[in-house]
Amino acid sequence: MRKPLMAGNWKMNFNHLEAIHLVQKLAFTFTDDDYNTVDIAVLPPFTSIRSVETLIHGDGLKLQFGSQDISAFESGAYTGEISGVMLAKLGCHYSVVGHSERRLFHGETNEIVSKKARAALSHSITPIICVGESLEVREAGNHVSYTLDQVEKSLEGLSAENVAAIVIAYEPVWAIGTGKVATAQDAEEVASGIRKWISNRFTTKIGEQTRILYGGSVKASNIAEIMAGPNVDGALIGGASLDPDEFVAICRFRLH
Ligand code: 13P
Repeated sequence: MRKPLMAGNWKMNFNHLEAIHLVQKLAFTFTDDDYNTVDIAVLPPFTSIRSVETLIHGDGLKLQFGSQDISAFESGAYTGEISGVMLAKLGCHYSVVGHSERRLFHGETNEIVSKKARAALSHSITPIICVGESLEVREAGNHVSYTLDQVEKSLEGLSAENVAAIVIAYEPVWAIGTGKVATAQDAEEVASGIRKWISNRFTTKIGEQTRILYGGSVKASNIAEIMAGPNVDGALIGGASLDPDEFVAICRFRLH
């Protein structure tokens, strides 16, 4: 069975000292029971990854971590970029690719997203590939076909084995940071559509292995309902992941 993943996308928040503070709070709270039932990850800004890594490895914590982006390139004259080699050296488990904020503010196309996903995989980093529709698309009722088109294009060039290992995050843009959470049915509808698409394109077995997350205004108060969807395997959490009590409560969704 797929192990749920709760990943805190800190976005552009916290300097490295604040990052250490938050990870320490999480470390004091999470127990082996938590780690055994859920994969728990933090995704700090690049400037904090080294500090978080030192703390996690130094104290032997079972908390996972990763980056919010990764370069499509290996090395060279790409000012401002961070490569998979560098992130792998830091021990990153995950890289978010194609977050809607990067698609929107940094012009990331599905083609770039697929290159980034392959860059991550080539360094044994699990890409968390984000997809999801805008409000306009949702209101027109085209959310499933739109999202599946993004999935198809963002997975271009990935092998069946790759697809079994990746994480897909369905994040409807209209639900991000707005407080408007998709209903559990909305999340399940698209997650099951994605899983069916993978099963048809690859095999049922591969479809059963890929983890599919929901993201968008996830909080302790709505996570249990969202996780009740059989095809939803966890969440990508923005704002609520900056509050340790809230993030811990989300990770303990089974107890709600
Ligand atoms: P919020 O949880 O703040 O809505 O953000 C969701 C998100 O974009 C996670 O990647």
